[in-house]
Amino acid sequence: THQWRGIIEEYRHRLPVTDTTPVVTLREGGTPLVPAQVLSERTGCEVHLKVEGANPTGSFKDRGMTMAITRAKEEGARAVICASTGNTSASAAAYAVRAGMVCAVLVPQGKIALGKMGQALVYGSKILQVDGNFDDCLNLARSLSENYPVALVNSVNPYRIEGQKTASFEIVDALGDAPDIHVLPVGNAGNITAYWKGYREYAADGMSSRTPRMWGFQASGSAPIVRGEVVKDPSTIATAIRIGNPASWQQALAARDESGGFIDEVTDREILRAYRLLASQEGVFVEPASAASVAGLLKAAEAGKVDPGQRIVCTVTGNGLKDPDWAVAGAPQPVTVPVDAATAAERLGLA
Ligand code: F0G
Repeated sequence: THQWRGIIEEYRHRLPVTDTTPVVTLREGGTPLVPAQVLSERTGCEVHLKVEGANPTGSFKDRGMTMAITRAKEEGARAVICASTGNTSASAAAYAVRAGMVCAVLVPQGKIALGKMGQALVYGSKILQVDGNFDDCLNLARSLSENYPVALVNSVNPYRIEGQKTASFEIVDALGDAPDIHVLPVGNAGNITAYWKGYREYAADGMSSRTPRMWGFQASGSAPIVRGEVVKDPSTIATAIRIGNPASWQQALAARDESGGFIDEVTDREILRAYRLLASQEGVFVEPASAASVAGLLKAAEAGKVDPGQRIVCTVTGNGLKDPDWAVAGAPQPVTVPVDAATAAERLGLA
């Protein structure tokens, strides 16, 4: 059979596992790399989308979580904990089920998308809504993991980064080499750290001839790395990246500087414009935070910062179904018709 086996089996020799490691997997990874025709035309480049919403729980977090939960199980953990803006918690909850572990989740009250809350609930995790933001949740999760028998599975857990680096391997495997530029949304900055690690490792082993420039984009109301200071009260409609003090801040700066890239910000308006373009022009429905990568690419192109002819990959990190409110908001209500072909044809503009 030719079923994709999940990132640990597919890239076993590049990951911290042994023959006896009990692999916890939902067959994550192996996600589509989709040529983006409209974005390619607009930028004069060859643009591809790495569609991470196609993972088992609908985001890239599954790559890191298979690795983190696998190692937690190997080390005998019975319970895991995470702070989350929604996707990490959905993923941790699902992989904890596979591992037979208890999963505790800390989310900022009122600031996570409904689909993500539904996932954590239906997978049976223990959720606390914290009267604070993501950064407060992460501090609380760290302190609980230090003082109680519960393993932390946020991206400060190095196994998370190990798992997430496999997305870079897949891109090089698909394209035959690394792209010129890789574009990502940046929140807690674990993913840009992971991609950069993956690209460096593949290049060092001769699997690619080069590494890409890493371009990261934060939401304007939550752009501590761009501003160079902690944002006390971060805000953005892209709740997944509503983070004021990223845990992997220094690693993100290293990825930026070592790769010759940059980290910039995009406004909520730019994010929503890219979000609608992705769905209506490319047929790829992502959550708002994911569209920050594409919004950033378009912003850079409009500012004349994108030389034509380059090969560019944008990671779109999460599935649009997680946060459908933004799809419905501002859209015209569908009209109701009787069971009548003539009326339906007329309303559809066919007649
Ligand atoms: N896109 C989505 C959909 C996310 O959920 C996240 C992070 C990011 C981008 C940013 O990635 O943090 O590695 O820079 N979500 C975390 C969570 C914070 O709790 O689900 P990052």
